[in-house]
Formats: sequence, C-alpha cells, structure tokens
Amino acid sequence: MNIALLGFGVVCGGVYDILKNMPEYNIKKILIRNPAKLTMDCMTLDFSDIENDSEIDLVVEAIGGLHPAREYILAALNAKKHVVTANKAVVAAYFEEFVTAATNNGVKFMMEATSGGGIPWIKNLQRVGRIDKVTRLHGIMNGTSNFILSAMTDEGKDFVDVLKTAQELGYAEADPSADIDGDDVRNKCAISASVAFGCPADVNSILKAGIRHISKADIDWFREQGLVCKLFATAVRDGENFDAVVEPVLLGCNTVEANVPKNYNITCLYGDTIGEVKLYGQGAGGLPTGNAIVQDIIDVNTGSAFDISFDSKLNKAEIISGRYYIRIPADVTGYAVYTDGICEKTFTLGNDTVIITKETTPAEIHKLLDANSSKTIFAARFI
Ligand SMILES: NC(=O)c1ccc[n+]([C@@H]2O[C@H](COP(=O)([O-])OP(=O)(O)OC[C@H]3O[C@@H](n4cnc5c(N)ncnc54)[C@H](OP(=O)(O)O)[C@@H]3O)[C@@H](O)[C@H]2O)c1
Repeated sequence: MNIALLGFGVVCGGVYDILKNMPEYNIKKILIRNPAKLTMDCMTLDFSDIENDSEIDLVVEAIGGLHPAREYILAALNAKKHVVTANKAVVAAYFEEFVTAATNNGVKFMMEATSGGGIPWIKNLQRVGRIDKVTRLHGIMNGTSNFILSAMTDEGKDFVDVLKTAQELGYAEADPSADIDGDDVRNKCAISASVAFGCPADVNSILKAGIRHISKADIDWFREQGLVCKLFATAVRDGENFDAVVEPVLLGCNTVEANVPKNYNITCLYGDTIGEVKLYGQGAGGLPTGNAIVQDIIDVNTGSAFDISFDSKLNKAEIISGRYYIRIPADVTGYAVYTDGICEKTFTLGNDTVIITKETTPAEIHKLLDANSSKTIFAARFI
C-alpha cells in the first residue's frame, strides 16, 4: 500500500517510525511546508504532488488546525484516496462532510487517533454498536489537564505551580488554553458522541468548562469529603435525544477514573448487553498516536475498517444533570439571581462562598459562569 503523510511532526514522525518496520506499507510522499526541512527525497512542498499521484492509496493527515487540513482531506477523498487523520479539531468541525465525501467516493475516512491517542476507542465504540445501542460514554480525554489535577491532588500543590511543571516536562504547551479550558476534550467528546450515537454532534452545542480556576482550597475540601476532581467528557443518549457536556466532575476516591494518574486517559462506554467497558492508556504522544493511525491503515488495507454512518436523527436535549459544587470568589456580586433557585446549602471557604446545588443542569450552571466570565468561579458536578 502506498501512503502519503501530510505533516512530519510528532504524530507523523511516530507513524514513520512504526511503518519503517512494515515493508508492505510504503511511505511514498511526505508533505511539509518549510523548504529548510526538505531532508528526504520523498518530501514535497506541493500537495498536488500527492493529490495527483494515482499510485497513492491512502493519505495520513496530521498537520493540525482547520485549514488547509479540511481542503486537503476533501481533495484526497475526492481523488479516491482513503484518509486517516489525527486532527480532532478538523474532524469535530467537519465530520459529516468528510463521511459524505468518503461514502460518495467509495473510500474510507478513519479517525481513531483523534480521540484517546493510542487507546482503541473509536473502533470499540463501533464494535459495540454492532450489537448494542451505546447509551452513555464518558472519559478523561486530556493528558495535560489530568496531569495537573493529579499533581494537585497527590502533591497538594497549587494550579499555577503544577502548570509550570507540566510545561517544563513538555506535558503542557506554552499556551495551555485548549487543554485546560476544555476545548480539546470538547472536540473528542463531539467525535465520540457522533460515532457512538450515529448522528453528527455539533461541537459548538456542547457546553464546556475547564479547570483553569480550580484552587488548592477546592482540592483540600474535596479530599476531606473523599472526592477527587477530574475533567470529564460525558455524552448520553435517551431514545431519540442525546446530550453532551465537558466539565470538571467530583468522583469517589476509590473509583477507577479517580485513580487515572499523570497524563493518562480513560474512556468508558455503556451498552445494553455489554454493560460497562473502560479502556485505559496513553492519550497522546508520537508512538501511541502513531500506533492508532497505523491500526487504521491496517484496517483499511485488510478490508476490516468499519464504515461510519450518520443515519440516526437525534435531538440535542438537556438529559445530563447533577448536583454541583460552586466556589464563588469574594469579588463576585449579584450571583444570587442565578443560584437562589438551585441552592441546597452554602458555606465559606477562606474568603470565598461555596454553594452546593440541588439537582440541576449544566445549562443552569453556565448562566452563572457566562455572566461572570471575567471572574474565577470554579464549578464541578458530583457524580
Ligand atoms: N501530539 C500528539 O500526541 C497528538 C495526539 C493525538 C492527536 N494529535 C493531533 O495530530 C495533529 C498533529 O499533531 P502533532 O503533535 O504531530 O503536531 P506537530 O508536531 O506540530 O506537527 C505538525 C506538522 O505539520 C506540519 N504542517 C503544519 N501545517 C502544514 C501545512 N499547511 N503544510 C504542510 N505541513 C504542515 C508542521 O510543519 P512545521 O514543522 O514546519 O511547523 C509539522 O511538521 C494535530 O491535529 C493534533 O491535535 C496529536
């Protein structure tokens, strides 16, 4: 099988290292963008060298971002080349368009590596879906935020100190926003829900809150209650309705998810007959992510790749609910209009006020968060 790589960074470097030991797969061309990095004969700066090469069967896209990734993926599919991508942002934004283009051209569109890195998550959602309706999924799907929360919990450190360590160790980017504010998890949540429920989930409709404002005082209070905080993607299906949200959650300290350490990920699904399934592993890194891409390549080559079909027509509804912990800093005023109707009890934590709510929805919590977006309110759902 002749393969082209788009990009030659962390992920495609991992793919290259794995495939060089598999002679039945030939990397025929590699697209890069910096002429100074043209170090191999197979490298090109021109995508049309790949698009117009009729001997290339499959294109791996790992340049990241929305554009020109979307255009390259569509052009490759329309040139009747299979596409395997690790790019969660572009898949979350254009999943349905890619699936339609692949179907129209009789080729495969594969995206195992977008969600959960090396964890065989998408394929298992599809396998379970052959027998069961997946009714619920959740996961810790961002290694950076899990590294930070784990270190705060285990070592009693404050957020800014742990973030600095994570950046020094290469677990967090210089601009960590996408990881700590939930955007990265939201893309994975949208992709996972779309595959699980057979219906494209609009990524922008998924409410998200991150861990940027969590404090040592929060963690200390959680510890006293026997709770651990993790950043979760959750998606639920009930009949013709579905819901999805990305937000910090509070788990009993003896649960499997509460004990996922460092930068590891876990993904969980529930099916009618299979019950609960949990998959644990490395959610990022060149070789684990490269492994997921090569698994997709092998599935395409051996005819064992699943087709994605979006034949369910589900409504986005408010199905997810729970009680929340909300810490409101002293400089926030006028919040009672949002919290009076849902307040179960309040207490003080240092100079801040904590509200424990009655059962409510993420949308109700977001009214408070959105109205105070410049403030450092932290909220987490008890599960
Ligand atoms: N890293 C992970 O562990 C991981 C895990 C799962 C998914 N992903 C996803 O995989 C994708 C790639 O991530 P990465 O970590 O491999 O990123 P990376 O190390 O920054 O590599 C990206 C590569 O693409 C090249 N590139 C960017 N735009 C290009 C263009 N227009 N034309 C040609 N080449 C272009 C870059 O070239 P330059 O060197 O010139 O900048 C670089 O070689 C992202 O969508 C990411 O979200 C990453």
